[in-house]
Amino acid sequence: MELCNLGTSDIKISPIIMGTWQAGKDMWVGIDDAQSTKAIKAACDAGITTFDTAEVYGNGHSERIVGNALYDVRDRVVIATKVFSNHLKYNQVIDACHGSLKNLKTDYIDLYQIHWPPGSFGAKKVPLEETMRAMADLKAQGKIRAIGVSNFSRSQLEEAATFGRIDSLQPPYSLFWRKVETDALPYCRENNITVLAYSSMAQGLLTGKFGPDHTFAKGDHRFRNKLFQPENYRRVRKALEKLDPIAAANHITLGQLALAWIISQPGVCAIAGARNPEQAVQNAAAANVRLSDTDLAAVDDIGRIVTDPLDDDPVMWEW
Ligand SMILES: NC(=O)c1ccc[n+]([C@@H]2O[C@H](COP(=O)([O-])OP(=O)(O)OC[C@H]3O[C@@H](n4cnc5c(N)ncnc54)[C@H](OP(=O)(O)O)[C@@H]3O)[C@@H](O)[C@H]2O)c1
Repeated sequence: MELCNLGTSDIKISPIIMGTWQAGKDMWVGIDDAQSTKAIKAACDAGITTFDTAEVYGNGHSERIVGNALYDVRDRVVIATKVFSNHLKYNQVIDACHGSLKNLKTDYIDLYQIHWPPGSFGAKKVPLEETMRAMADLKAQGKIRAIGVSNFSRSQLEEAATFGRIDSLQPPYSLFWRKVETDALPYCRENNITVLAYSSMAQGLLTGKFGPDHTFAKGDHRFRNKLFQPENYRRVRKALEKLDPIAAANHITLGQLALAWIISQPGVCAIAGARNPEQAVQNAAAANVRLSDTDLAAVDDIGRIVTDPLDDDPVMWEW
């Protein structure tokens, strides 16, 4: 897999990054630790070098699964994790980082990201200057190699960048959720900040696996995803029908089509979540798909069936 630069850092990342929210179990259903471990190892064998996790995913469970699965190949992989919005005071960031290092069984984190802007999820609003001071100190100590932010608007990103070098932004971004394109994406491109698109298959919707009357098992958070609201879901189904023949003509799955489209956007890598090795391997293969300009334009247009009627709220879930 041809690697990409992470911002202006000396870190190289794979265009398809494996997402491991699933491995945390919390908010997902039917996740099995052994399968999560196999999925991470299979992703690695299939050429994925970069793994995304967070302290909040299962309260450290995802980080522990990732740390164990990658222990033997630590020097060959890039680990990205995140500090949650309830830990943004100086000492909290330092403690959270040490907790993540322990969970991940490593002495450095390649990319340390502020998961949500200050004040999110009812947390006390900590000045960005304070959080960024902690991040900069961790970087100076070699405990983290690069700093990223997630779910930040352009103005929040611009503010954070006044306190230190930001090498990545992790927003929700897929064919069915493109709000970043009109907000932070141009700024990222101008400033060499790599965009790590999360929910790049719209949480599984873009794989076409969910039928017209799909309901999620109790405990699966995805029923809160706005794309599953009836009006949006009708448009999703219509768009998927139109994407189907393009995927078939390219001999790829719908999910691979969605991933190939997103990594064809300049400066953008895709984080693809997987619960088992089969999904991880299929997602990794999307890195080798080359779509024609005609197909890319058609796919782009079809995605707008879903995105054009959406309002401006950047958050993908109704929490
Ligand atoms: N920064 C943030 O706030 C934030 C928020 C969300 C996600 N993330 C990160 O981004 C990652 C990806 O986002 P996501 O998990 O929300 O969405 P996603 O990657 O768009 O979708 C993942 C889901 O799609 C399905 N799937 C994946 N590969 C498949 C395949 N090859 N065939 C069939 N189905 C497949 C699986 O659904 P089933 O489980 O139904 O099998 C999987 O759980 C997360 O793991 C996490 O690391 C970050």
